[in-house]
Amino acid sequence: MSPGKFITFEGGEGTGKSTQVTALAERLQASGRTVLQTREPGGTPQAEQIRNLLVSGETDRWSPQAEALLNYAARDSHILHSIRPALARGDWVISDRYMDSTRAYQGHAGGVSADLITELEHQIVGNVMPDLTFVMDIAPEAGLARAAERMTEIPAQESKEDRFEAKGLAFHTSLRQAFLDIARDNSDRCVVVDASISIEQVSEIVWREVVSRLAP
Ligand code: TMP
Repeated sequence: MSPGKFITFEGGEGTGKSTQVTALAERLQASGRTVLQTREPGGTPQAEQIRNLLVSGETDRWSPQAEALLNYAARDSHILHSIRPALARGDWVISDRYMDSTRAYQGHAGGVSADLITELEHQIVGNVMPDLTFVMDIAPEAGLARAAERMTEIPAQESKEDRFEAKGLAFHTSLRQAFLDIARDNSDRCVVVDASISIEQVSEIVWREVVSRLAP
């Protein structure tokens, strides 16, 4: 759609996505690129307010359908006020989660109709499609253990963000399969990365893919 490049990181809980987003942003900046590092739900003040509604509180606070609509309200703001302008300037945008998270969490794992998700993608994402998506894959038991460990290390404000972790192993097992299915169905833009290996090894795999596919 524009001169910039758009890279997303996807996956379940505790896959080390956020660490990799930061590592890639730093490496691209070091190579002279202007980078917007962002996340979903979030990325604008309005979308961050919606994030607070989504990630904290009782597990059954929202139906999966309401979650899909709230995530898309946040995404609409993120695309209009942050992602699209950055890509138009020629910047590199790296987002910790994007459209595939709604398809996996609310669609496959949450039971929201694929037709509704597809329609939201058409209407709101449109041509603001990632050039490259890393799907970070790990066994849900290991991912949930890592996410629980992280909760003890971060400030109290963020440790309230446990609504999705609390959904149980069956949900997270179906989530893993959902992301693998999405990667298989979109093999032109998705790369599955084994997230159980070391942070440094994952960073090298990510960098090699970025260099060979997008030539920064
Ligand atoms: P994070 O923990 O990776 O920051 O993501 C916040 C939570 O929001 C995470 O549990 C996944 C969930 N989520 C959805 O359920 N649907 C979405 O569309 C997005 C972007 C996130």
